[in-house]
Amino acid sequence: MAAILFFLLLLTICNAEAQQRQSTINLGSSLSPTRANSSWLSHSGLYAFGFYQQANGYAVGVYLAGIPQKTVVWTANRDDPPAPGDVTLNFTNDGRLVLQSAQGKETSIASPGGATSASLLDSGNFVLFNSKEIVWQTFDYPTDTILQGQHLSTGKELFSSISEYDKSTGLFRLAMQEDGNLVQYPVGTTDVSQYAYWASHTDGDGDNVTLCLDVDGQLYLLNSTGTYLTNLTQGGSPTEDIVYLMRLDADGILRLYSYNLHQNGNLSVLWSSTNDMCLPKGLCGLNAFCVINDQQANCKCLPGFAAINQGNQSSGCGRNFSVESCKSKDGSLKYTMEEVLNTEWDQNYFSHLSSISKEDCKAACLEDCNCEAAMFNAGECKKQHLPLRYGRRSLTDTNIAFVKGIYRDFQ
Ligand SMILES: *[C@@H]1O[C@H](CO)[C@@H](O)[C@H](O)[C@H]1NC(C)=O
Ligand SMILES: *[C@@H]1O[C@H](CO)[C@@H](O)[C@H](O)[C@H]1NC(C)=O
Ligand SMILES: *[C@@H]1O[C@H](CO)[C@@H](O)[C@H](O)[C@H]1NC(C)=O
Ligand SMILES: *[C@@H]1O[C@H](CO)[C@@H](O)[C@H](O)[C@H]1NC(C)=O
Ligand SMILES: *[C@@H]1O[C@H](CO)[C@@H](O)[C@H](O)[C@H]1NC(C)=O
Ligand SMILES: *[C@@H]1O[C@H](CO)[C@@H](O)[C@H](O)[C@H]1NC(C)=O
Ligand SMILES: *[C@@H]1O[C@H](CO)[C@@H](O)[C@H](O)[C@H]1NC(C)=O
Ligand SMILES: *[C@@H]1O[C@H](CO)[C@@H](O)[C@H](O)[C@H]1NC(C)=O
Repeated sequence: MAAILFFLLLLTICNAEAQQRQSTINLGSSLSPTRANSSWLSHSGLYAFGFYQQANGYAVGVYLAGIPQKTVVWTANRDDPPAPGDVTLNFTNDGRLVLQSAQGKETSIASPGGATSASLLDSGNFVLFNSKEIVWQTFDYPTDTILQGQHLSTGKELFSSISEYDKSTGLFRLAMQEDGNLVQYPVGTTDVSQYAYWASHTDGDGDNVTLCLDVDGQLYLLNSTGTYLTNLTQGGSPTEDIVYLMRLDADGILRLYSYNLHQNGNLSVLWSSTNDMCLPKGLCGLNAFCVINDQQANCKCLPGFAAINQGNQSSGCGRNFSVESCKSKDGSLKYTMEEVLNTEWDQNYFSHLSSISKEDCKAACLEDCNCEAAMFNAGECKKQHLPLRYGRRSLTDTNIAFVKGIYRDFQ
């Protein structure tokens, strides 16, 4: 194995490691998930780039190779279906990195061609070179994780995975915004505070703010002139034995992990953006709200609703009848108002009544065919349409959610 000592200055503004040992991958090399070589290792052997098992097939990515539980830190084309066992990852003679199916179909892993060599650096960064220039690197395209020495620059986002085992795009995102604020949102929303569930509150602190993770585990926001705006964690002293990584986990919480190479254990959590498992908006789907049970987040349906898919909390709840025929002609349909105490929801009302009692709020919704739910809090009544979203129990919140139910009189 041709290992050379290579001095590489990573062009970052964070304090990245300046020196990286390198093992070179030459043009014409290939990997196969089922034959002898399924991955290329970093010089230290800590990281591997190549195939890992995903559902009933294989995905291509970077993972911690030295760990019993495989920890994937980057995935190529993460939303593509798993590849079958007869694919080949080919570093072609013209310098492209492609996945080739047995039928000859090619899927690109790294966009430009024309590379002359590749390397998985000891930092976990998989890099394509054209002579000594970096033409493409995984550190520029983070998925749900940043590693020590890596950063998230302005305008970039991390997206959580569906689960620890399925690295396809999940429900949450972390945006390093142009305004300098680092913010967590559900996927599929715009960058407005209504949808945010966590923020660094560094908006207005300058353009080109970057989230950095240093080799000693310090996680911080840096502005373009090198001022530390916020230290999310304080670093320790850098140790060769400890690896740090920050991940936007499938449950929507941002965590900084450390892994001790000599203790053969699990990743341990050093910091997390919140301890409230119910905080991430959209964890429970529509018409459901999140409650903590035994320190786990659980989703409950609104009264009169049932889970759409029992095995999938984010699929939310629905009811199996419609309330369209609001005023029934024969009087056989009657409506009830079910109430749910101490819950918070996305405020998306079409009518707002002030200085009103709880009973009047309930009656106002009941009488209004357009009203399907109402929020009552301290004399304020907000009439809403279904579905309700981003629900969670909050014992400090005196909000009462009313939802229209149906009452059938069979006599
Ligand atoms: C596996 O990789 C090693 C080192 O890169 C190489 O020497 C060997 O020939 C490869 N084996 C196969 C079957 O490709
Ligand atoms: C890799 O691609 C080249 C064409 O660029 C092809 O000739 C070669 O057979 C491929 N190697 C494998 C192992 O599929
Ligand atoms: C970075 O922050 C420092 C301290 O708040 C400030 O003086 C400096 O102007 C900022 N740089 C930019 C480019 O905003
Ligand atoms: C921010 O970065 C962009 C692109 O690198 C650059 O054009 C711009 O001048 C930078 N702004 C500041 C205030 O440094
Ligand atoms: C953040 O960390 C840096 C470097 O360790 C230190 O110089 C700075 O004073 C810290 N800032 C705050 C607000 O703690
Ligand atoms: C690692 O985590 C697994 C599953 O979470 C647990 O069963 C195991 O006991 C842990 N091992 C150590 C050494 O903490
Ligand atoms: C769960 O349901 C959501 C919303 O319907 C869907 O986007 C997601 O793919 C489902 N997850 C799984 C693991 O089936
Ligand atoms: C709705 O669900 C309930 C309970 O599962 C069932 O008894 C009822 O027949 C269903 N109604 C309709 C219209 O499907």
